[in-house]
Amino acid sequence: MPHLRFYDLHTSEPGSIRAELSHGLLAAAPFTSPKYLYDSLGSRLFDAITELPEYYPTRTEAAIFAAQREVLASTLPPAACMVDLGAGSCAKAASLFGALQPSQYIAVDISVQYLHGVLAALSEQHPGIDMAGVGTDFSASLDLPADLLAQARQRPINAFYPGSSIGNFTPDEALAFLQRVQRLCAQGASGGGLLIGVDLVKSIDMLELAYDDPLGVTGAFNLNMLRHINTLLGSDFDVRDWQHVAFFNTTLSRIEMHVQARRDVTVRWQLEGQACEVRFASGQRIHTENSYKWTLDNFSALLQSAGFRSSQAWCDEKGYFAVFWAQA
Ligand code: AVI
Repeated sequence: MPHLRFYDLHTSEPGSIRAELSHGLLAAAPFTSPKYLYDSLGSRLFDAITELPEYYPTRTEAAIFAAQREVLASTLPPAACMVDLGAGSCAKAASLFGALQPSQYIAVDISVQYLHGVLAALSEQHPGIDMAGVGTDFSASLDLPADLLAQARQRPINAFYPGSSIGNFTPDEALAFLQRVQRLCAQGASGGGLLIGVDLVKSIDMLELAYDDPLGVTGAFNLNMLRHINTLLGSDFDVRDWQHVAFFNTTLSRIEMHVQARRDVTVRWQLEGQACEVRFASGQRIHTENSYKWTLDNFSALLQSAGFRSSQAWCDEKGYFAVFWAQA
């Protein structure tokens, strides 16, 4: 039986989730965190988005990994500890096991439950790789359990953060996150670093179509968040009162997603025994997600500010997407 361990470090306290949601909805410019896009239906809708012809990032990144397999194999240190941040199905990391030859694999995700089945199957297929699953909110903390870290530190630590999820952080949050990743990688043997997928600035038409597809899958993904919030908060959002809005904010270099009231709407819920209510005028919005688009130069500068010693990038031929390797 391959060696397999699980750690659940994630404590999601329902009271603090409700307080956070209430705070955002009652703000002068109402907002919610994009993490609430992902209940079980939201995760499936996101998977469907990745298959849309208009949503280029997933397939473009996969094509870069496929085209650069050999280069990656000769650039990244072998026999490393691969730390997969936001591992999910672990499919992207697993597709690189052959090229990168890790000797340890740590899958980190908010839900450790999901990782149990996935890693059990994966460790049967790769019995030579020591595997562990860690349930934690890695956007807040990257502290690994002491025994796991002690083992990881004996080899280079290669963090893996594909999918351009870094774009869902503001530049300040992205810097703080990359600093934490750099500190983790620097604790391993020399040669380790970060392999990360980054979506690049491109034509506004192409960007807006990717986030407002004609089939309405991204719209369903965005609006489903209101149902998820109803479950978490006990609020009474009616999805029929809202519409999906997505546009590129050129000044801030980000796609913004919002839900916009189709008519005057009042939403009610209870917080710690108190009745809460917010009135949205027709046309008023709740800001639900940002997806920042970077240039090669700006992202290399960000990696440098985060403490990485050097970085290199590979792009598709149209320059839509980049995969960076940054040495810690
Ligand atoms: C997960 N993340 C990288 C996606 C993105 O492109 O920002 C989430 C998404 N939102 C709308 N479509 C996809």
